[in-house]
Amino acid sequence: MSKIAIIGGSGLTRLHALEIERHEIVSTPYGESSAAIAEGYFDGVPVIFLPRHGAGHVIPPHKVNYRANIWALKESGATDIIAVNAVGGISKRFGPKVVCVPDQLVDYTYNRENTYFDGEDSPVTHIDFTEPYCESLRQKLIHACDFCKFTVVPEGVYGVTQGPRLETAAEIRRMENDGCDIVGMTAMPEAALARELDMCYANLSLVVNWAAGKTSGPITMKDIEANLEQGMTRVRTIIGAIKP
Ligand code: HPA
Repeated sequence: MSKIAIIGGSGLTRLHALEIERHEIVSTPYGESSAAIAEGYFDGVPVIFLPRHGAGHVIPPHKVNYRANIWALKESGATDIIAVNAVGGISKRFGPKVVCVPDQLVDYTYNRENTYFDGEDSPVTHIDFTEPYCESLRQKLIHACDFCKFTVVPEGVYGVTQGPRLETAAEIRRMENDGCDIVGMTAMPEAALARELDMCYANLSLVVNWAAGKTSGPITMKDIEANLEQGMTRVRTIIGAIKP
């Protein structure tokens, strides 16, 4: 039986309709997860929830303890992880408010603890990462969007930057040349760590702004927050429509 965990990103620190049965602090060999793991039912479906940036949205992308988070979800019995991310849009199809289920990523992050296989007693291990996302879970997400009659872009390349600052216009041009469609700061090393623990992992991204240089003028937090609030209401509906 599969058990779904949701990792909430910016704008999704709580799942309002989650009937929480318990909160559990799971200790891991890598330290503490971003928050206690919430277990409960979402529209009758058992779900585990973890806010990536902490309950009060206080942990920036480069300081998230990704290893502890994924380990704690595995320990709690999760088999499948749906990672929710707010992103910037790079290519034309990915304007603000678009929902996307990416199928590829490019990792530009650095200095993050990005593997479980680096202990002195762990064997050298190279996971296959040709397809970074779990196709069956991606399809469930796409079907849930269709079921809710929400338009979804069913593929796309997520470029993962280090943050916490946003990118320069030249960095975004470079990412576009690399084939990136959207840009965010948290998809890695999360996806690779889930693969190392043999978990099924997919990403649901909400575009909250045009990436740097893709629109005139600066990117304002006010615009991002307005798109986040509206978009995350849709994301909650999509999560409620996922068939485990
Ligand atoms: N860049 C990186 N991360 C982001 C952005 C962006 O433009 N928007 C939301 N998260």
